[in-house]
Amino acid sequence: MSTTASTAIPEPQVPTNGRLLSLEKVNLAFGNKIILRDLDLEVRKNDGHGQIVCLLGPSGFGKTQLFRLIAGMPDRAAKVSGTIRIHHNGTEIPVHRGLVGVVAQDYPLFEHHRVISNLVIAGQQAGLSRKESHSQAMILLERFGLADRYDVFPEQLSGGQRQRVAIAQQLLCSQHYLLMDEPFSGLDVLAKARVCELIAELAALDGGNTIVIITHDIESAAAIGDHLFLIGRDHDATGNPIPGSRIVETIDMVAKGLAWHPELTSSAAFHDVVDGIKAKFRQL
Ligand SMILES: Nc1ncnc2c1ncn2[C@@H]1O[C@H](COP(=O)(O)OP(=O)(O)OP(=O)(O)O)[C@@H](O)[C@H]1O
Ligand SMILES: [Mg+2]
Repeated sequence: MSTTASTAIPEPQVPTNGRLLSLEKVNLAFGNKIILRDLDLEVRKNDGHGQIVCLLGPSGFGKTQLFRLIAGMPDRAAKVSGTIRIHHNGTEIPVHRGLVGVVAQDYPLFEHHRVISNLVIAGQQAGLSRKESHSQAMILLERFGLADRYDVFPEQLSGGQRQRVAIAQQLLCSQHYLLMDEPFSGLDVLAKARVCELIAELAALDGGNTIVIITHDIESAAAIGDHLFLIGRDHDATGNPIPGSRIVETIDMVAKGLAWHPELTSSAAFHDVVDGIKAKFRQL
């Protein structure tokens, strides 16, 4: 299994061939319960441009387990096999904890540190000097409309401000790649639209970032995603679902002319895609 960091013999580094993230024949089970089965997934680099990739699937289909695998933090109770590799400094290496920026659903921050130190610590952990880390942190806070909140403690932030600080924190320690679990959950329609705008801005920052979002929110994923990967199940000859989720369909929203813009969600073509995904999910 190549997701763990502590193998005695380092695996050979291989050229990426334009891949940013690749999963090959990934299986995950809890005891006899198969959650992911022979899952293949490839996200390609998009140098010079940002991109937003959504892994979209119904509740209970193993998205959070998949998120944990891609983040290099597999569930200890899970039996895992297969290969998960990520682009790092020009080569592909097995993913491990700490290699990618991960924005978890509850936006954890160090509660006893002020906003600015939360960010400076993240930058230093990624190898920046304290001075560099501080100046990068202030640039990000400015960009996210938080320049005047640098000196407060996390408990003094609103939910939206906390989310932006958590994103800034992860941007400081990631290499143009950020993974987000359910960034739309618990938000009202207006707040979701604001988060979509923020994610689109993030993707475009600093010569382009890849944002991978894992969600069950079909409308938001279709609104923001450049590429959608649908997580589902195959069916046997009698129509019964085969246990274990895989990527069952990919949708290239850019090729369809449906890349994100503020009016996208009012177009008929957008609603066709959303209705198509809903119909597909009902059959899973
Ligand atoms: N520690 C565990 N032991 C046994 N089964 C588990 C464990 N953790 C998760 N599962 C099972 O794995 C399956 C997938 O769970 P997961 O949380 O990945 O789903 P999900 O797609 O993220 O769902 P949701 O959209 O509701 O968040 C579920 O059936 C769940 O019960
Ligand atoms: Mg989940």
